[in-house]
Amino acid sequence: MRAVEAFTLSLAVAFNFFEPAKAELKNCTCSAVYSFGDSLTDNGNGIATFPDQFIDSETNPNGFNFPHHAADRYCDGRLLVDYVAFGMGRKPNYAILRSIAADFTYGANFAVAGATARNNTEWVQETGFSSPFSLNVQVSWLERYKVRLQFYYAQVELNSTTRGVVYQSLPASDSLNTSLYFVYAGFQDYFFPMYYQTMTPTEALDIVDAVVDSIVAAIQRIYAFGARSIMIVNLPPMGCLPALLTLYADEDSEKYDTYGCLDSPNKVSNSHNTLLESRVADLRHNYTNATFYYADYYSVYRDVLKSPTLYGM
Ligand SMILES: *[C@@H]1O[C@H](CO)[C@@H](O)[C@H](O)[C@H]1NC(C)=O
Ligand SMILES: *[C@@H]1O[C@H](CO)[C@@H](O)[C@H](O)[C@H]1NC(C)=O
Ligand SMILES: *[C@@H]1O[C@H](CO)[C@@H](O)[C@H](O)[C@H]1NC(C)=O
Ligand SMILES: *[C@@H]1O[C@H](CO)[C@@H](O)[C@H](O)[C@H]1NC(C)=O
Ligand SMILES: *[C@@H]1O[C@H](CO)[C@@H](O)[C@H](O)[C@H]1NC(C)=O
Ligand SMILES: *[C@@H]1O[C@H](CO)[C@@H](O)[C@H](O)[C@H]1NC(C)=O
Repeated sequence: MRAVEAFTLSLAVAFNFFEPAKAELKNCTCSAVYSFGDSLTDNGNGIATFPDQFIDSETNPNGFNFPHHAADRYCDGRLLVDYVAFGMGRKPNYAILRSIAADFTYGANFAVAGATARNNTEWVQETGFSSPFSLNVQVSWLERYKVRLQFYYAQVELNSTTRGVVYQSLPASDSLNTSLYFVYAGFQDYFFPMYYQTMTPTEALDIVDAVVDSIVAAIQRIYAFGARSIMIVNLPPMGCLPALLTLYADEDSEKYDTYGCLDSPNKVSNSHNTLLESRVADLRHNYTNATFYYADYYSVYRDVLKSPTLYGM
C-alpha cells in the first residue's frame, strides 16, 4: 500500500471520532456531496480551466492509484472528499466544470487547484499555482448551479419528454438541503506564499483572521443557500510538509518538534485551526437548525506521525 493511500484511508477511519460518543459510525443519509476548496479537494476544475498550468494532475504519480483512470486530482489515489463520498456508499462527486460525461447525481465539486479562501481579485496567471476562482467565486457557482437545476426540473415537470433532451444525471430535485457541504479551504492562502517565499511563517500569522473570515463568510452563504449539513475541515500541521521542511531547514533543533516538524509553519496551522474551531462554535450557536461538523484533520495527521505502523507505514 502506498503511503498516501494508507494515510487517506486512515482519515476515513478517523471520521469515527467526529461523534466520539458512538462506537459505530452510523450510515450517512446525505443525498449528495458538494465540496469547496483548493487542490486538496479539486478533482478536475483546475485542469478544466488552465489545462497547461494544471496538467500535472493527470500525470504519474497523480491518479496512479485511483480506480479505473487518471483522475484529475493532485493525489496518487483518492482525496479526502472521495473517502467521504465512498464512505457513504456513493460515487465521487464530479468537478462542476467537467464538460464531458459529468454525473451530478451525487453532487458536484466546486474546489479549484490554486484557489484561496480569501477573494482573489488581482489574479495574474504568472504567479505560479494560483487560480482566480477563490472561495467566493465557488459559492457563486453553487448558487448558479441551483438556478440551472430549478430550470431543468421545471421544464421536466411541464413536459416529461424534455427529460431526454435536457437530462444530464442530475441530483434529486429536493436533495439540496439534505446534502453534505464540505469546505476545506485556506491551505492555498498560507502554503503557497511560504513555498514561494513571498511570506515567512511569522508573516503568515497576520493573514489568519482574513482567511478564517473568508471561510466563515462562504459558509454563511452556503447556509443561506439551504445547506443544513456542513463539514468544515481544518488544516494539517504545515511544518510537517516535505516542501517546507526543505525550504526552511534549520540547524537549530529547537525549531523542530518531537516528530521532526518545523514549529513556525505549525504555528500557522494551529492559529488558523483554533480560530476556525471557535467560529464553527459561533455558527452552531447562530444557526441552530443546521449541523456544523468540525473535521479535525490536524489531529489525524499527528496521530499518523505518532503511530505510523498502526496505519501501515
Ligand atoms: C448501514 O447500512 C448497511 C447496508 O444497508 C447495513 O447492513 C448496516 O446494518 C447499516 N449500519 C447501521 C449502523 O445502520
Ligand atoms: C469577497 O467577494 C464577495 C463577492 O463575491 C463580497 O461579497 C465580499 O464582500 C468580498 N470580501 C472581501 C473581504 O472583500
Ligand atoms: C414535449 O417536448 C417534446 C421534446 O421537446 C416535444 O416534441 C413535444 O411536442 C412536447 N410536448 C408538449 C405537450 O409540449
Ligand atoms: C428541503 O427543501 C424542500 C424544497 O426543495 C422542502 O420541501 C423541504 O421541506 C426542505 N427540507 C428541509 C429539511 O428543510
Ligand atoms: C453570530 O451572530 C453574532 C450576532 O449576530 C454575529 O456577531 C457573529 O458574527 C455571528 N457569527 C457567525 C460565525 O455566524
Ligand atoms: C433556520 O433558522 C433560521 C435562523 O434561525 C431561520 O431564518 C430559518 O427559517 C430556519 N429554517 C428552517 C428550515 O427551520
